[in-house]
Formats: sequence, C-alpha cells, structure tokens
Amino acid sequence: MKKVYIGMSADLLHPGHLNIIDEARKLLDSLGGGELIVGLLTDKAIASYKRLPYMTWEQRKIVVENVKGVDKVIAQETLDYVPNLIKIKPDYVLHGDDWKEGVQAKTRQRIIDVMSEWGGKVIDIPYTKGISSTQLNNILKEVGTTPEIRCKRLRRLLNSKDIVTILEAHNGLSGLIVENISINENNKKVEFDGIWLSSLTQSAAKGKPDTGYLDTISRMETLNDILEVTTKPVIYDGDNGGCQEHFVMTVKTLERLGVSAIIIEDKIGLKKNSLFGCEVEQNQDTKEEFAQKIKAGKQAQVGEDFMIIARIESLILEKGMNDAIDRAKAYLEAGADGIMIHSCRETFDEVKEFARLYNELPNRKPLVVVPSSYCEVDEKELVENNINIVIYANQLLRAAYPAMVNSAKSILENHRAKEASDKYCMKIKDIITLIPGS
Ligand code: SPV
Ligand code: MG
Repeated sequence: MKKVYIGMSADLLHPGHLNIIDEARKLLDSLGGGELIVGLLTDKAIASYKRLPYMTWEQRKIVVENVKGVDKVIAQETLDYVPNLIKIKPDYVLHGDDWKEGVQAKTRQRIIDVMSEWGGKVIDIPYTKGISSTQLNNILKEVGTTPEIRCKRLRRLLNSKDIVTILEAHNGLSGLIVENISINENNKKVEFDGIWLSSLTQSAAKGKPDTGYLDTISRMETLNDILEVTTKPVIYDGDNGGCQEHFVMTVKTLERLGVSAIIIEDKIGLKKNSLFGCEVEQNQDTKEEFAQKIKAGKQAQVGEDFMIIARIESLILEKGMNDAIDRAKAYLEAGADGIMIHSCRETFDEVKEFARLYNELPNRKPLVVVPSSYCEVDEKELVENNINIVIYANQLLRAAYPAMVNSAKSILENHRAKEASDKYCMKIKDIITLIPGS
C-alpha cells in the first residue's frame, strides 16, 4: 500500500492546507489507493521555532482527522521530519513549493536525501496565493483572546518550552512592547512568552514606593490596561498576598480576569523590596502560616489552570540554604504550583545551588527565577540548571527612566526641544501612529 506523508501545524487550517491534502488524495487515487498520513507537529515542536499554536495538539488533531481524505494523524515531535519518515518510509512527502527557497530549502533537501534511501519522492505543490497563516495570525491578534485561553497558556508553555521568558510591563504601552517585540535569530522567531506585573515597576510608574501602598484595586486598573492590549499570559506579583481573607479574593479576581499565575512571597510586616536584602528590616512569615495561605488560595480557585507560585525569601534574608529548601518542601506540600527562589547576590551561584537541591525533590514543580542583580546569567545556563521560568522583572521601566531624564535635561540645557528631539525621541509621525487604531 502506498503512503503519503504531510507535515503540518494546522493551527489555522486554510485552503492552502486543504489543497495539499487534496493533491495527496488525488495522487494516492491515481496509484490505486493508499494511506494519507498527517504528521501533526506537537506544541513542543512548534514552540521550538515560533509562538505556541492557539489550539492544543489534541484540538488540532480532531480538526485534521476530520478533513476529507486524511486517513491517519500522528505526532511529529520535532520540526525535523526525518525521525517520522524513517519510521514510516512513505512513498511521497507533499509540501507547498514555498519551501524551495529561503530557510526551508535545507530541510527540503534533507528530506529528499533521506527519502531516496527507500526510493521515496518529494512533491512540491504550487503555493496557494492570497492566504497564509501569518496573515491569519495578524487578524487573530486583533481579535484578541479570552480569559480562559490566556490563563491556560502558561501551563502549555511550561509543557512545551525549555524555558519560559517573561518581561515586566507597568502600563498598556509597555504591555504592547512585551506582546509585539520579536527578533529573528537563526531563522527562528524569538519573542517573550508572557508579562510580569511587577509591584516594583507598577508602584514606581505611579510615583509610589514598593511598600504595598498600591492597593489591589488600583493594581487591577493597570492590569486591565495591559490585558486590553495583549494576548500573552500574565504572572502577577502579589507581594505577600495580604491577609488570608484578602488573598482568596485576589485569587478569584485574577483567575476570572484570565491571569495565569500569582507569585506570593513569604514575608510579613511592612513590605520592602527584596533587592534591599538585609539593608532594611524585613521579616519572614513562618513556614506553617505561609503554607496555610497557599492552601487557602488553592481551595479558592475555581478551575484547574490558575497557578499559585510560592516565593521563598530565605536567601534574601540570609536564613540559609537549608531553610530555603525546607520551605520549598512545605510549600509544595501545601499545594503550590511552583517555587520562585529570589536572591540579591551579584552572581548566580546561590540560586544555582538551590536549583540543584530543589531539582532532587520528588514532587518538584516549575522553578522560577528573577535574575535582576545576577543579570550576567543567560538563558542557556538557566536551562542547564532546570529552571523553568525566567522573569526579567524591571528592565523596561529602568530603560525608560534615564531616557526621560536625559530628554528633560537636554530641553533645560538648550532652551529648546530640537536636541532632545533628535537624540532621545522617536519621530512625531511614529508616536501618533504607534497605537493600533490611531
Ligand atoms: C518586583 O518586580 O516587584 C519583584 C521582584 O517583586 S523584586 O523587585 O526583585 O523584588
Ligand atoms: Mg514585587
């Protein structure tokens, strides 16, 4: 029996995909019948080169299985077709002819070479003009997302990526940057996976200290501005969560809004930013009380997807590694969906040692780090140490402030705006057209 193999993501199934399936069916019919197999890329395979698909693998599978002409849908675990091709040894692989040029040309050649081992062939199907996944993606971005889809997305990312990258936003504008900024690196689209609602930068943006003075309701206003203009998952910095009675209310509110996770820290008393370390008085909650707060939060949430991540301050407060690990065990036992370990050292060593011990725990859950003071560490090293989420917690606001100060000084020094405008400012045309819908 002849076999035809087609690899696809099929997140936004369009006439281009259907055309290839149709051509494959016609080919098989002309050969007296056979099997049309679709290798459906897993979330992990897709996340290795672009953003996660909108639909889960299971949802995409249901769609493709029900397309006329498809006989079987199997998982393609890597971007590389070859492992599946060796297993299946198809007679033909069909693909849109757009892959003859550009970055995919090498992939195509590799498939041709492998297929020749058993006499298989690659057929390039003329590309369907006027429709593409990129186009549909842009339209979908405009449509937005739903709270449920957004909330689930963090867990899906954790299951699909070596490391999930999160960048701070403190208003709608910085939210748009985290949402939209991307670069091309070795032919892969690299972008941030989600947004950190930092207490530090949200307070500073309002000209307030990071002491818990901003109340939850006022923080929700900024959160809402960000949710309005983004689709990526949000992790909310919940300080110490407040008293248990308030914490359970915050959990319900965030879950309803589609936030993916809250991180709460095991401190009590007047809140001080952790990066002060022992320079200021800061007190840690007891392990038992804090575990109780986590338990209450977990009981309060309605669905399965929202995450409560426990942030351990033992290293910040110089209570030692044993205390930190001991607390990690207690918080995981209380139901925490992950642990954030914080440090204000200038090197990664301390967090690395924590990660080594933490990774041995039998009920280990995702580990989160915030390399603000030890910012030399890169994502490769974090992955090597099994760290699952990296939060870049304050860089956008820290970058914006000096640019604004320089601009202000330049106007004072020159008694006009020209120098500031030329040196520090974006073009007027660019600012008036920056926001979609302007
Ligand atoms: C924040 O961004 O507000 C944080 C991280 O909680 S830190 O400022 O390092 O405490
Ligand atoms: Mg904070």
